[in-house]
Amino acid sequence: MLQIFCHQVLIFFNIISLTATQADISEFFDSHCESRCNFLEEHLNSKTKASFPTGCSTVCANLLIDDSTDISQDKMTLLFKNIKVLYGSLHVYRTNYTSGRFLAGLKVIECDSNGVFMWDENQNMIEIGMTSLTTCFCNFDVNYNSNMKWMNLPNLRNFSSINSNSTQRQIEMVIYSMPSNFCISIQEISNFIQNSNLYMGDLPKTFCPITSDFISGEKVCQFGIDATTLRNMTSNCVRVSGNITIEAGDEEFVYKLKSMKYLFGSLKIFNVNLTQVDFLSSLEYVVTLDNKPAIEMLSNHFVLNFTLPSIKRVRSTIQEWLYFALIEDELEAFIFKQPNVCSPFTDIYGRTVLYSTQIAGVHCEDKVPNVPSRNFPTSGRDNSAFSLHGCFQTIIFMIFVHFIC
Ligand SMILES: *[C@@H]1O[C@H](CO)[C@@H](O)[C@H](O)[C@H]1NC(C)=O
Ligand SMILES: *[C@@H]1O[C@H](CO)[C@@H](O)[C@H](O)[C@H]1NC(C)=O
Ligand SMILES: *[C@@H]1O[C@H](CO)[C@@H](O)[C@H](O)[C@H]1NC(C)=O
Ligand SMILES: *[C@@H]1O[C@H](CO)[C@@H](O)[C@H](O)[C@H]1NC(C)=O
Ligand SMILES: *[C@@H]1O[C@H](CO)[C@@H](O)[C@H](O)[C@H]1NC(C)=O
Ligand SMILES: *[C@@H]1O[C@H](CO)[C@@H](O)[C@H](O)[C@H]1NC(C)=O
Ligand SMILES: *[C@@H]1O[C@H](CO)[C@@H](O)[C@H](O)[C@H]1NC(C)=O
Repeated sequence: MLQIFCHQVLIFFNIISLTATQADISEFFDSHCESRCNFLEEHLNSKTKASFPTGCSTVCANLLIDDSTDISQDKMTLLFKNIKVLYGSLHVYRTNYTSGRFLAGLKVIECDSNGVFMWDENQNMIEIGMTSLTTCFCNFDVNYNSNMKWMNLPNLRNFSSINSNSTQRQIEMVIYSMPSNFCISIQEISNFIQNSNLYMGDLPKTFCPITSDFISGEKVCQFGIDATTLRNMTSNCVRVSGNITIEAGDEEFVYKLKSMKYLFGSLKIFNVNLTQVDFLSSLEYVVTLDNKPAIEMLSNHFVLNFTLPSIKRVRSTIQEWLYFALIEDELEAFIFKQPNVCSPFTDIYGRTVLYSTQIAGVHCEDKVPNVPSRNFPTSGRDNSAFSLHGCFQTIIFMIFVHFIC
């Protein structure tokens, strides 16, 4: 029941966000396209396709491809063969296409503040397959595609506007109600996590099988597959997948994690006799898909200090990404003084806490009220204009809906 309710609410909001006023749309289109490159039809189908500006590489359109789109996959490929940049929105809904490869040439999609990049209820679709897409400055929503295996968006790495004058804004990604074998690739998530304005609220539950030993020249290791203990893990792994447990007996091998920059999975440090945790010195990004903290420190009674000097961003399914329990007072006091460990990650406006550190049942930012938050925009762009729009409230509401769903 709740799920159905939530789905309705989400659809309702997506519809609201698609129906921006005509004035907003024309202003947005006018500032980005020559009028001959606009496509103003509500639906794309065999009747309206003649007015699609096939000669333009930059097109302004709120593209709706849905169950009324009676155009073959091959004809769609022809229709879109020149398009590189789309301003507006893209909604692919209830089609019979097996792939979104007809949009494989598209490199950039940029929405106005209400637009979405949305793929839902496409029963036959195996992948989105927009393999040239590098930039998506749109809220991102993929749901109820019951045969999709993975997205296959290997080059999507940027969720900011390509126009330097454009306002930075928070982008929300939600991927939900997908089949149980649907996965997100390490390549995709490595690209996504680098964006400070991207909040990945819902993600698939699993990473795709790893098929390459290197990504961007960095060694990839699978803990639990290549090695099941720290003892026989190789020591030059930069991107590590798996659930790493460090327990009594592993102390002398912790140096092997010193080169780890990315962790896809989780890390649990339990009952060790180390006096310090200083071996996570390279760790920049942590992505956890399971319903548990990304990093847990439990019952390590000799540890006096814990540092994460390089941490940049995390993605966790629960808010408490970093969790300390059964720790000594000295370590607790030490952590309160470490902004890299204690500070919450917030949205780019600094208003909403996305992820926080929990120590003995207390959120660190509640204990240290003036601790600075992270994820502020680094570009120094002015966000005040954006805050006048209602979109921020919408995002908060969407986050709320996703939490109860
Ligand atoms: C999709 O397939 C179903 C079942 O074969 C058919 O009824 C429907 O018309 C098709 N939809 C489109 C848009 O081609
Ligand atoms: C995304 O693109 C913008 C504009 O081209 C650039 O300033 C920014 O650094 C890029 N972000 C990432 C994560 O590559
Ligand atoms: C950016 O804004 C400045 C100042 O308003 C303006 O001079 C410039 O032309 C703009 N650039 C673009 C690419 O719109
Ligand atoms: C890892 O260590 C276990 C025993 O500790 C051993 O059985 C296994 O063969 C080792 N694996 C590798 C890849 O060295
Ligand atoms: C981590 O453990 C969970 C079960 O707790 C499992 O579902 C998941 O696949 C593991 N993650 C990795 C990356 O191996
Ligand atoms: C820590 O534990 C390991 C094995 O668990 C043991 O070999 C070592 O001597 C212990 N170190 C200290 C300082 O107690
Ligand atoms: C952490 O604790 C160890 C052992 O007590 C100490 O040698 C080291 O200097 C401490 N590091 C920091 C950053 O306080």
